[in-house]
Amino acid sequence: MSDQIILRLDGQDYPLPLEQGAENERAIDISSLRADTGLITLDSGYANTGSCRSAITFVDGEQGILRYRGIPIEQFTQHPNFIEVAWLLIFGSLPNRQEYDGFAGDLTAHANLDEGMKLHFEGFPRNAPPMAILSAMINALSCFYPELLELDDTSRFRLAAARLISKIRTIAAYAYRHSQGDAYNYPNPRLAYVSNLLHMMFSHPYQERECDPLVREALNLLFILHADHEQNCSTSTVRIVGSSKANLFASCAAGVCALWGPLHGGANIEVLRMLERIHNGHMTPEDYVQQAKDKTNDARLMGFGHRVYKNRDPRAEILGRQAEKLLAYMGQDDPLLNIARKLEEIALEDPYFKQRNLYPNVDFYSGIIMRAVGIPTNMFTVMFAIGRLPGWIAHWWEQNQRGQNRIARPRQIYDGNTITDYVPMDERG
Ligand code: ACO
Repeated sequence: MSDQIILRLDGQDYPLPLEQGAENERAIDISSLRADTGLITLDSGYANTGSCRSAITFVDGEQGILRYRGIPIEQFTQHPNFIEVAWLLIFGSLPNRQEYDGFAGDLTAHANLDEGMKLHFEGFPRNAPPMAILSAMINALSCFYPELLELDDTSRFRLAAARLISKIRTIAAYAYRHSQGDAYNYPNPRLAYVSNLLHMMFSHPYQERECDPLVREALNLLFILHADHEQNCSTSTVRIVGSSKANLFASCAAGVCALWGPLHGGANIEVLRMLERIHNGHMTPEDYVQQAKDKTNDARLMGFGHRVYKNRDPRAEILGRQAEKLLAYMGQDDPLLNIARKLEEIALEDPYFKQRNLYPNVDFYSGIIMRAVGIPTNMFTVMFAIGRLPGWIAHWWEQNQRGQNRIARPRQIYDGNTITDYVPMDERG
């Protein structure tokens, strides 16, 4: 097998090295292309661009494979533990008992927010988008931990990671409490990660929110399935911001903003709106699918399609099953789950979706689970962000550790005016 390809331009040959990954995926290294030939590459949406080497997550979109540090995602479904997976992604291997207890202890110790942080919440309108609050408050952490702005050793990085993973949950809960006009609940050090989140979101002085074991399992699984997905839009954003040597808090705050959009994490809200519209009788599932195929409007079948998966998204498969298990356990019959199943059935038989390899993605069933647990729709993308945070942290750290943070700075093909004279105001038409 050749380890280079030859680019022939104006009769001259330019050898370009080939790179190969651990799973035999191949890439052309074009880093010398412009210097040698004056050419750049043009790749809309970076669909064919490898931005880095990474050892965190492997996705094979053709075969529907997702692995964290080599472990197939399906293997986390038996006894899902989000904290264990967070450690795995960030530090590279499953934690031993001592590492796990130490990290879980750090999460408990650092769950609380500085009282000064609470004043910021008061300034937000009650109906402020929770993703805006989340991003702002993660960035605000930079002000409270100046000693964690430069992370050059593993122990300080570990502390910053623990603070962030713990506090994002408190920030999310406080954003929700603020929107409800309710007093904030302090974190309870006796509760584990998911139970504590539900406590901070939903407990009242007269009624403690208990966390049922199956709810805990479902939310742990939901967070795990969202925890990383290699160079997706928000993770690439975190890497790009981090490449300027911006601190971990600022980089992750930017990741929240990227995740917010309806084509990325915000799709989980749009899926639920779509299912509710159908349920409320505004459209049949058949009508909706028809509309999603119509190129004269912008409607899409939300929760369907993926840049990388051209086969089933394994996360959607697992979450679909988990939604059914949870609803059966709770004795609920959510009509939205039936509508989702119907949409999936219609779309998977439809030539439009078949030809384009469009399948349900992670957002298609996640909302049904969150709804069953009582998470309000406008908090869905915040839940996604809590899950994705370990992935962002892992990529930020990997980039730093590998010295990969050459500042990210793509080029462009300029197609504006050629040289044009300045015209004084009085002489303009
Ligand atoms: N409904 C209808 N048509 C679709 C859909 C959809 N959900 N997704 C893609 N298509 C069509 C496109 O219109 C396009 O058709 P064309 O070839 O006739 O022009 C073709 O399929 C290819 O789609 P692209 O937009 O080029 O695919 P891309 O990789 O750029 O986008 C994306 C992927 C953004 C996920 C897209 O499938 C989409 O918008 N899905 C709905 C939103 C969604 O669920 N987002 C969550 C993604 S997962 C995540 O971020 C966690």
